[in-house]
Amino acid sequence: MLGGHLLHGGDYNPEQWLDCPEVLEEDIRLMKEAGVNCVTLGVFSWAVLEPEEGVYDFEWLEEIIDNLGKAGIQVILATPSGAMPHWLTQKYPEVMQVRADGQRNLPGKRHNFCYTSPVMREKVRAIDEALSKRFGRKENVILWHISNELGGNFSDGACHCEHCQEAFRRWLQEKYGTLEELNHAWWGRFWSHVYTDWEQIHSPAPHGETTVTGLEIDWRRFVTEQMSDFCGMERRAVKKYSGLPATTNFMSFFKNLDYHRLQKELDIISWDSYPFWHRIKDEVPEAVWAAANHSVMRSMKRAPFLLMESVPSAVNWREYNPLKRPGMHMLSSMQAVAHGSDSVLYFQWRKGRGAYEKFHGAVLDHRNGGNTRTFRDVSEVGERLPLLAKKAAGTVNRPKAAILFDWENWWAVEDTTGPRLDLDYVQCVLSHYRAFWEAGIEADFINMDAELDGYKLVSAPLNYMYRAGYAEKVRSFVENGGTFVTTYFSGEVNETDLCFLGRHPLEDVLGIGTEEIDAPGEEFANRFLYCGKEYPAARMCAIVHAKEGVSVLASYEEDFYRGCPVVTENAYGKGQAYFLAAESDQDFYRAFYGDLFQKTGLENPLRTELPYGVTAAERTDEDGKGLVFVMNFRNEPVKVEGTGRRTEAETGKVFEGEIELGAFECVVLDV
Ligand code: GAL
Repeated sequence: MLGGHLLHGGDYNPEQWLDCPEVLEEDIRLMKEAGVNCVTLGVFSWAVLEPEEGVYDFEWLEEIIDNLGKAGIQVILATPSGAMPHWLTQKYPEVMQVRADGQRNLPGKRHNFCYTSPVMREKVRAIDEALSKRFGRKENVILWHISNELGGNFSDGACHCEHCQEAFRRWLQEKYGTLEELNHAWWGRFWSHVYTDWEQIHSPAPHGETTVTGLEIDWRRFVTEQMSDFCGMERRAVKKYSGLPATTNFMSFFKNLDYHRLQKELDIISWDSYPFWHRIKDEVPEAVWAAANHSVMRSMKRAPFLLMESVPSAVNWREYNPLKRPGMHMLSSMQAVAHGSDSVLYFQWRKGRGAYEKFHGAVLDHRNGGNTRTFRDVSEVGERLPLLAKKAAGTVNRPKAAILFDWENWWAVEDTTGPRLDLDYVQCVLSHYRAFWEAGIEADFINMDAELDGYKLVSAPLNYMYRAGYAEKVRSFVENGGTFVTTYFSGEVNETDLCFLGRHPLEDVLGIGTEEIDAPGEEFANRFLYCGKEYPAARMCAIVHAKEGVSVLASYEEDFYRGCPVVTENAYGKGQAYFLAAESDQDFYRAFYGDLFQKTGLENPLRTELPYGVTAAERTDEDGKGLVFVMNFRNEPVKVEGTGRRTEAETGKVFEGEIELGAFECVVLDV
């Protein structure tokens, strides 16, 4: 566990207050009161750290780090590349991104730098090394925070300047070797798009190429690769004089960068979580969204991650921004820890006085010091985390189920034209995951490169692309006893979006032959009976036939494909493979996965049925010791029955057979 604690604190921007020493003093006093043990410094401090080119002013930062150290507060130190100072953009306009339409950005905002520009790389490397030299061995500095939300300013995921175009062409040359190979991979004769010179290749653009999907996918791969390279450069720079680990803060379901690639440049995963609590009265969809994101982060290294940012009250950037209702701050903080976070960190410690984020929630408001509801909520988390830290140390979630969530598949399935243009990969994955969440069964979120051994159940909804080697891996997983679920519009194309010819790559494992796929309008929605109950089949309805020996668990009830299978089960080797031919609703996914959990022996940590809105998550060490978090996302009390004898982790209180949870309450139990 980093720094020996569950970290509690967050982004601290004292450079905005350097002329108010009384504010800086109050900060440290109130941090101690709120149980803050860690702050992140320097995220957007470039203009203050390097007021003019090559002239560094680190004194103020050193003083603050030392004062924090005296108060027992640890520091995550950021590199400042997230926002560029005006002297830099004025002198070197090439550091500013060029958009897909060919226009170079004007100075301002943040995250809008070109990650290929040699000047940008040089300036960032220089200040990172200087920070490393000065602070990399300070006792209370524990982690490097590279840049901020890499790629966060992108509309389409990229800088399109000449440096990037050249790098893209070089990258393609290395990948394909010859133009012949590239033209084949991109199906170049379509609309006469055959390239005869590498110089003809240009990134996708609204006024240029958008129809060669192989190009689109490769461009996205290249952007990820280039950003990973930039991140790797920063990591090497901060490590030059320092042995500290490095992270960067990821974002929720961020499509533009393949985090499975980028994570290879990091020692620890961290992310910024901003669920839209209280958007509607039912918090379950948002809780599912947050739990899925936490699990994506944990699964990347199958290790604890850090919740780097979260808001203690309300954000300022949605159309309307509800305050957290009583209980939600503690519950959402515990939810992160439950799914594998070793921290609860906020954006930010103190609200700024001016500019864009002055009304964004923070631990300290513009008035009333520590005498606010938010401050009390935060202090409660600050009191609770140390009580859990010892038992959480060395633990992580170890699910026996996994959901396939793959960035390249995401790009490909949403870029493709037909059978629908409104496919939403994340929503589809979430509707499957929600069945796991409601049952209190943890799942990892893995991509196609992950090992499947060790899981009992792997679900791969809308798994349109199969990269080389993936089908073989699934085949041997099922052969060896695994249970595999997949859906309509899966196994359609290879990694450059060329359709598989002849048959579905997992036809033998699934035991089905695919024929056509209907994307009906609402009035043509179909339906099917599963275990005696009727469910909708809508939006995507594959027409398949079952091979001999396959069990058809449900069939269409309507239209010309009435009687064709919707749900199939095939025994293959020692395992089972399921095919869901149509999109259905949450009630169906709940029923279907409920049956699979029984068949595969997957149980939640309480081994009992959970009421609606309640879920559970378990973190254990290698000996099976750890914590179970039972979370009630309903704004009213609920009772969980049939739990057996359980002991509360912090108090030793014993529950005999049932647990009562208050509104938005999280109870933590020993394992
Ligand atoms: C994050 C960002 C922070 C802050 C926050 C506001 O995306 O990293 O710097 O702007 O949003 O919600």
